[in-house]
Amino acid sequence: MNVRNARNVALAAIAATLAGVTAAWAAPAPAPIILTGADRRPAISLNGEWAAIVDPYFSGMYNSHHQEKKNGWFVNHKAKPGDEFPTEYNFSTASRLKVPGDWNTQRRSLYYYEGPIWYERDFTYQPKEHTRVFLHVGAANYKSWFWVNGIKVCEHEGGYTSFNCEVTTAVHAGGNFVVAAVDNTRLADGVPGLQTDWWNYGGLTRTVSLIEVPESFIEQYDLHLSRTEDSVIEGWVIMNSPVNGAKAEVEIPELGAKTSAKVGDGGLAAIRVEVKGLKRWSPETPIIYKVRISAGQDSIDELIGFRTVEVRGTEILLNGKPIFLRGVCIHAEAPYRTGRANTDKDAETLLGWAKEMGANFVRLAHYPHDETMLRAADRMGLLVWSENPVYWALQFDNPKVLAKAEQQLDEEIGTSRNHAAIILWSMANETPNTEARTKFIETEAAHARELDPTRLITAALLVHAEGNTKIVDDPLGKALDVIGTNEYIGWYEKRPETADITQWRIDYQKPVIMSEFGGEAKAGLHGRKTERWTEEYQADIYRHQLGMLNRIPQLRGMSAWILMDFRSPNRPLAGIQDEYNRKGLISEQGKKKLAYFILQKAYKEKTVGKPE
Ligand code: GCU
Repeated sequence: MNVRNARNVALAAIAATLAGVTAAWAAPAPAPIILTGADRRPAISLNGEWAAIVDPYFSGMYNSHHQEKKNGWFVNHKAKPGDEFPTEYNFSTASRLKVPGDWNTQRRSLYYYEGPIWYERDFTYQPKEHTRVFLHVGAANYKSWFWVNGIKVCEHEGGYTSFNCEVTTAVHAGGNFVVAAVDNTRLADGVPGLQTDWWNYGGLTRTVSLIEVPESFIEQYDLHLSRTEDSVIEGWVIMNSPVNGAKAEVEIPELGAKTSAKVGDGGLAAIRVEVKGLKRWSPETPIIYKVRISAGQDSIDELIGFRTVEVRGTEILLNGKPIFLRGVCIHAEAPYRTGRANTDKDAETLLGWAKEMGANFVRLAHYPHDETMLRAADRMGLLVWSENPVYWALQFDNPKVLAKAEQQLDEEIGTSRNHAAIILWSMANETPNTEARTKFIETEAAHARELDPTRLITAALLVHAEGNTKIVDDPLGKALDVIGTNEYIGWYEKRPETADITQWRIDYQKPVIMSEFGGEAKAGLHGRKTERWTEEYQADIYRHQLGMLNRIPQLRGMSAWILMDFRSPNRPLAGIQDEYNRKGLISEQGKKKLAYFILQKAYKEKTVGKPE
């Protein structure tokens, strides 16, 4: 038997034993949970510098037969003389990456990197009696696995929603360590799929912390103003591991309102309280109330605005009155430093520019944005379109993909359901008009309605044309409360002035939002208005668009594509795009283009959209 065979036999033997053992240590870790208002809980921050090992072949996770490794790079193994296996990684000597943050803008060598990277961080902790601990991850793009002290605590798929892994039994007194493997490889059966028009920023892109809660704690809650009964706040609280006879209580000190309810089956307590003197939240008056939610030994001090939103015919009603949404789209690209946006400052800069432009609405594209952005929208008075990353082409006939989309909806809505600013849950963007797609998104929309019947369901549809007539007849429109439509007259099709002679045929008696329109310009590039890429050309598109938009009878909103230039791998034009989509009204370095002032004038003077 030659060496090779001997080795293969040995390997087979090892594989067999490993297979045996596989069952034990590879047992799936418990699923992470969704926590509403996690950012309102006291937390032990794990942000900062983490050790990082780039592992393009994922050899820290899989052996040469692509089986998960027993001693993968998740044990803080320090090489010892006589060790059976050579230890080929060492976090203490590894390079560092900042958390939160994408890795692409932290190191030139990782700019285009798509693959796994291992993160490690030491922390000290003191367990407390009757206390459970969760590892809160604001977001990890795209797939991620977590171990605490070598014990697998969870794995997750989806790059733009937060999740919480229980680590109560994994932590101990004194020194602890957490290891995360994060892989931003794009997947054909992923959500989003293989193609996007934004940079695939990888890593632990949002805050990471430890959250302590009592043994039975508040997992999710929903508080909103009733659409049917004036001055009634209703909703529910869900407890995790409730004790018998537990009560949930909601108190709004400024309104002198207080109510409590018994926690029943499934940890659910239904809440209803009449309030006097409530001032409703709106873009003009973004009034936020302190709300204390308590149940058992647990409590959360929330900040919530109360408003109603609904559709009546082709009108969108905010607090019972028709509203026109003067908006702009925003990607979670950080102004100036670029990379994933994840700070209050990022949010205030981006939303500040939108407010300054006279907007009362932002479409947060194409994935759920950070809680910092949503808190800022509540504070600053900007209505929000929040979107699930069902973008362009997905495997719509693959039930696993539908389950992933629904899981991301659960996390998006479960985490952000109490933001007054959010009025629209968007199910998708520019998906192909096929039967499988329509069925997929109808199911997704039904799921969203079940999770949250208090908001409007929308999606951004592709439209087709016959001559100069744009036709909105996508069958998906039936499943939506509000129709979003994207068009690029003057950029991807025809000339800016074609908008002047463009008609719109909309086969639905529903409110319509022009969810994307615009064109590209390099900030500072000037020329004749017929020259593409100049600010004058982009401005000309906007001038003609505003006229056309005003001629669409049931237009109830618009969100220009896009507030700020953002990185995209589809934009290589050197000297102009340089891997940025330049449809921003502002450059990534904050330079306002001519078109910004055209839209600002129309929004401030309310010359676009039906007067309220
Ligand atoms: C599409 C898409 C955006 C994209 C934009 C563009 O409509 O929804 O994600 O960035 O067009 O081409 O600039």
